[in-house]
Amino acid sequence: MDPVEQFKESIKETTRYIKEKIDTEPQIAMVLGSGLGALADEIEKKKVIPYVDIPNFPIPMAPGHAGNLVIGELEGKNVVAMQGRFHFYEGYTMKGITFPIRVFKSLGANILIVTNAAGGLSRFFKEGDLMVITDQINLMGTNPLIGPTDEELGLRFLDMSQAYDEGLIYLAQQAAKENGIKLKKGVYVGLIGPAFETPAEVRFLTRIGADAVGMSTVPEVIVARHVNFRVLGISCITNLIFKKPTVFPKHEALHEEVLAVAEKSAEKLKKLVRGVLAKL
Ligand code: HPA
Repeated sequence: MDPVEQFKESIKETTRYIKEKIDTEPQIAMVLGSGLGALADEIEKKKVIPYVDIPNFPIPMAPGHAGNLVIGELEGKNVVAMQGRFHFYEGYTMKGITFPIRVFKSLGANILIVTNAAGGLSRFFKEGDLMVITDQINLMGTNPLIGPTDEELGLRFLDMSQAYDEGLIYLAQQAAKENGIKLKKGVYVGLIGPAFETPAEVRFLTRIGADAVGMSTVPEVIVARHVNFRVLGISCITNLIFKKPTVFPKHEALHEEVLAVAEKSAEKLKKLVRGVLAKL
C-alpha cells in the first residue's frame, strides 16, 4: 500500500479501537508531561487504556511516565489525556511521537492542552513556576511533517505564525488570576536531548529569545496545528539553568530533581487546567 494511505489507515484503525472502548466523544485532548500525570487521576467516569494495548501506538520507556490513555470527564468536558508522552530521545520516530495527536483529532477533539517540565532560562522565573507558552522554537533538527503527505493529512507548508492560541492563553491567564496562581509567559525551545544543556548552550538559548527549554512538545504542537487544533501549552519550570547549569554532578540527579519539582507543582497545574476547562 502507498505509505500515505497506510498511515491514514493506521490512524483509522487506532481510532476505531479507542472508539469501541468509550461512549463519549472527546472534545479536548491533553498531553501530560514528566511528573505531571496526576491530573489524569482526577478525570471522572474514566476509561484507562494502557498504551501497550493500543494498536499502532509506540511503547513508552521513560521513567516517570505512566503510559496510559485516560478518557472521561473533567469540569464537565469530555477529555482524552495522555498520562506520559513519547520523547524523540527514546528512539521513536517523529511520526510515532505525534501519532496520538492525529488520533485525537480523528476521535473528534479540537483543542489540545500540552504540558511539560522545562528548564528556566528567564531570570524572572522561580523554581516551580508555571509558564504559559506564547510561542516555540524548533531546535530539534527535524520536523514531524517531513515526508510524503496529502491534503487529507494537512497542508504541505504549514503556517506556524500563531501556533499557540491567543484566546486560550487569555483563558489561562484568567484562570490563574482566579486561583491565585502566578502564571509566567514565554517562549519554549525544544531540543532533542537527552543530554542537558552546556553553559554555552544555555547562553545561546537565552540570546535567541527562549525563556524555557525542554525535550518535548514542539513536534506535538506542529502536528496539532497541522490538523488544526487550538493549542494551549503550559511549562512547569523545574530547574533554573541560567543560574548554575553545571551544579548537578550527574544527569540522573537532575532528572530526579525535575520529577520532584514537577510533582510538587502538579497541584497548581491541576487547578489551572481545571480552571481553563471550566471556561471552555
Ligand atoms: N533542560 C532540558 N529539558 C528539561 C530541563 C532542562 O534543564 N528541565 C526539564 N526538562
